[in-house]
Amino acid sequence: MTPYENIQQLLPNTPKTWLITGVAGFIGSNLLETLLKLNQTVVGLDNFATGFQHNLDEVKSTVSAKQWQNFRFIEGDICHSEDCQMACNGVDYVLHQAALGSVPRSIASPINTNNTNISGYLNMLVAARDAKVSSFTYAASSSTYGDHPALPKMEDNIGNPLSPYAVTKYVNELYADVFARTYGFNTIGLRYFNIFGKRQTPDGAYAAVIPKWTASMIKGEEIFVNGDGETSRDFNFIENAVQANILAATTTNLEAKNQVYNVAVGGRTTLNALFEYIQEVLKSNGVTYSKVPIYRDFREGDVRHSQADISKIKDLLGYSPEFVIRDGIVKAMPWYIKSLGAQ
Ligand SMILES: NC(=O)c1ccc[n+]([C@@H]2O[C@H](COP(=O)([O-])OP(=O)(O)OC[C@H]3O[C@@H](n4cnc5c(N)ncnc54)[C@H](O)[C@@H]3O)[C@@H](O)[C@H]2O)c1
Repeated sequence: MTPYENIQQLLPNTPKTWLITGVAGFIGSNLLETLLKLNQTVVGLDNFATGFQHNLDEVKSTVSAKQWQNFRFIEGDICHSEDCQMACNGVDYVLHQAALGSVPRSIASPINTNNTNISGYLNMLVAARDAKVSSFTYAASSSTYGDHPALPKMEDNIGNPLSPYAVTKYVNELYADVFARTYGFNTIGLRYFNIFGKRQTPDGAYAAVIPKWTASMIKGEEIFVNGDGETSRDFNFIENAVQANILAATTTNLEAKNQVYNVAVGGRTTLNALFEYIQEVLKSNGVTYSKVPIYRDFREGDVRHSQADISKIKDLLGYSPEFVIRDGIVKAMPWYIKSLGAQ
């Protein structure tokens, strides 16, 4: 039995109270769904900056009425310390996901990104410390590797940040480290590498590539590739990221705390290959897309290649990703077709 299978068996018999910030967003709502299905009690905090009520409604439709009663939603803002205090009250495990994501958004609006991702994050750290929660797991980012050329990326070797967003995510790690030294408050940072799956929005200027392309292909619209298509990413299916959060929150291994971890698969897929995967999986679901992609300029602030070394999270947290990129696209496709095609 893997450590994740083990904890999935244990949790329903020892229910805990979890706080998910950013619960109406992509990753937050997937965490919510899994935890409610494991009969956990969940408090969710979100201000709907980039999250949606329909994500919460969809989770409600996938769990039992009894499980849904274990969820309490607080519409609030992590930039308000009193909202953070209210949310942390009586909580065992915090999964802090709320942030303004996207490199281009941060380049267009660095102050907003800074306020939410640094000041809001600090409010959450203080509130969680004061509430004496058992664990605090936060969403870090692969953007912290910046211009460091080495592949695969190992946690200790980071370069210069390439965007305001990357600065904020790195500052999160610095604060986490200082909170351990100064207050003895333990945290775990999860450096996500391009997570994808159901409920990731395809809309808006800052949408991630997989939902954006999939939605466009379903509708027969043009696909735009930033650069030559040889830019590569370690795309990671959402269920692997959920696993990482649950393992991080519940670990009893002291050595595993006050660390940051890559959360990825350890693979590398170019945008050109990604286009072909999505096209193929769509075809096997009865949707044929026959246009060729249109290539345009590279996007400012983007890292050229990204691939994680995942040995640290495997060794210290027992993480074992269940889905490689293609499996994730296959699993997510019926949702994309049902939800994105209908828009
Ligand atoms: N999706 C990825 O590939 C990826 C990669 C690296 C890091 N991350 C990080 O993971 C986390 C979750 O990302 P996501 O992809 O689910 O994004 P998302 O935009 O879908 O979710 C973020 C959620 O946070 C909420 N939020 C934003 N500002 C808030 C505030 N001030 N107060 C309360 N709630 C607020 C939003 O409304 C939204 O529901 C973020 O911290 C993001 O930076 C994501």
